[in-house]
Amino acid sequence: MPRPKIFATRPLFDEARQILQEKCEVEYWAQPERISREELFRRVKDKQGLVCLLTERVDDGLLQGATKLRMVANVAVGFDNIDVPACTKRGVAVTNTPGVLDESTADFAWTLMMAVARRLGEGEALARSGNWKGWDLDQLVGTDVWGKALGLVGFGRIGRAMARRAGGFKMKVLYTDVQRAPEDVEKECNAEYRDFNTLLAESDFVSVHVPLSSDTQGLFEAAKFFRMKPTAFLINTSRGQVVDEAALVHALESKKIAGAALDVYENEPFIHPGLKRPNVVLAPHIASASLETRTKMSVIAAENVKAFFDGKRPPNVLNPEVIKTA
Ligand code: DGY
Repeated sequence: MPRPKIFATRPLFDEARQILQEKCEVEYWAQPERISREELFRRVKDKQGLVCLLTERVDDGLLQGATKLRMVANVAVGFDNIDVPACTKRGVAVTNTPGVLDESTADFAWTLMMAVARRLGEGEALARSGNWKGWDLDQLVGTDVWGKALGLVGFGRIGRAMARRAGGFKMKVLYTDVQRAPEDVEKECNAEYRDFNTLLAESDFVSVHVPLSSDTQGLFEAAKFFRMKPTAFLINTSRGQVVDEAALVHALESKKIAGAALDVYENEPFIHPGLKRPNVVLAPHIASASLETRTKMSVIAAENVKAFFDGKRPPNVLNPEVIKTA
């Protein structure tokens, strides 16, 4: 049997490469610049598998030219870059990498929250500038995180990991989601359910942990910022399109909220110039970027590929209806 041909849009980590090479003939895109759409079209034409990042769009246009493609492994938990129904229609399996990045992402959302509350971005710039004149009583005075109300929008794995961290900071934890969590989860996380608007009104920090979908796109529009406290901060490590960036900029300019800390943007890598202000902390979509986690994400993607071509159901398949197991 010929080995299945795979194209990976990044070289991945060694651990993942080892898994892939056991089973497949793999071609990696190792150029420093991202693969162009045209080049991606060319490379997948004769491949049975594609390992891709959230920056590559897998849609019907791509699938049309990739007639041999049988599976796509996304190296991310979010899969809004992939048209899953189109893949299903063409019998192409899709997998993602859930479960391994929750704690790292929560760590980073926490990092952003602390940074914006305690004005770390401004402080770091001052410390490096050579203009720091020494300690002063009212210098870069921020706001406390401990003891405040943390509002979690989305109470899945990452939202819950955020909640667990809040205990050490003696925070009141509120959450909202389409469904209320089971009582034992609320208890374990010490979290109280609120409807969305009440959560916005009561929280000092609002941290977003929802996947991008037609229901969550633009969830944070102008009216939502009006509901927040003028002293509150928005933290977003989910997807940029969940927040209407122009509305956020307006809310910041008109002091409807106190600040924001963002890892994700509406049109990455473009960042709205109105967000480049002292009370906004900006990160380049790195919430899951620890060596441990990125390695695990690559490994999981590789394991999904291997399982699929071994004729097994991949552990993280998103459209199981296309899987034919022996
Ligand atoms: C994901 O996995 O969806 C993150 O945005 C990148 O780690």
